[in-house]
Amino acid sequence: MLSYQHAFHAGNHADVLKHWCLLETLLYLQKKDKPFDYIDTHAGDGLYSLKSQAALKTGEASAGVLKLIDNQPEVLKNYLDVVLSYIAQHKYPGSPKLVQQHLRSGDHAWFFEMHPQAITNLQKKLASKTGCFVKTEDGFKGLLSLLPNKNKRALVLMDPSYEIKADYRTVVETVEKAYKKMPQTVFLLWYPVVDREQITQLEKHFKKTVLKNVHLFEMGVADDANKGMTASGMIVVNPPWTLPEQFKSGFGEVSQRLSEDGIARTRYELLIAE
Ligand SMILES: C[S@@+](CC[C@H](N)C(=O)[O-])C[C@H]1O[C@@H](n2cnc3c(N)ncnc32)[C@H](O)[C@@H]1O
Repeated sequence: MLSYQHAFHAGNHADVLKHWCLLETLLYLQKKDKPFDYIDTHAGDGLYSLKSQAALKTGEASAGVLKLIDNQPEVLKNYLDVVLSYIAQHKYPGSPKLVQQHLRSGDHAWFFEMHPQAITNLQKKLASKTGCFVKTEDGFKGLLSLLPNKNKRALVLMDPSYEIKADYRTVVETVEKAYKKMPQTVFLLWYPVVDREQITQLEKHFKKTVLKNVHLFEMGVADDANKGMTASGMIVVNPPWTLPEQFKSGFGEVSQRLSEDGIARTRYELLIAE
């Protein structure tokens, strides 16, 4: 039984990094006329209220995206342009909502979700948009059933909550299986840093795969020795070539603004070269 609910965390520091990465990659792919499929293996609710009991209880959006509204960092321009219109209505868009509004005719989006409440919310929030499909099944298996796709172009967001510890293994195995089916796919995998050793192992597992062109982007808001999620990262396969430079030049400021002690913590690694 899944218990994780993203409503408690929507708009936190991890969402800032994840949704920046998602939006920049999506906009880059759309520079080409050719349609593509977006596959969200762990979709969540789609849209969140910043006034819900859950959001107010944790205050994570207040310590996250809401800290960036005045004096906006340049690197977040595209992301904040989209997100601010939701924040004005005391809402925060999840990955499905962010992507849905950018879909062109011919692009398709597949949203996998298994939590009953999240499914209901997702179906309501994405109602009647052509080209969008909500699938109430396991996103890891669903991804593999969709590749290779007709247009031979796909963007995948894999964003598990890792409440099942096996997910740290499953993400690597699933990305590798999907890559073997369609190596040109762009994969965005999110990970939390709660236990640094777990992430060191995750990186090692990636390095043992057949994958090429794998980059890691990480942003922290507290020292690793602290409790809780002190940082999070994105492992990106086949990123836009512009993404590493954007991150390296711009995310120090974002991290510093969001960190508990005013210290910037970012990490970029080329995990596996092309
Ligand atoms: C971190 S949230 C997703 C947030 C969303 N991607 C966003 O950026 O707005 C993770 C979601 O994955 C769902 N989930 C967990 N295991 C799943 C699985 N095997 N397949 C599909 N969804 C799953 C959970 O119910 C939860 O809603």
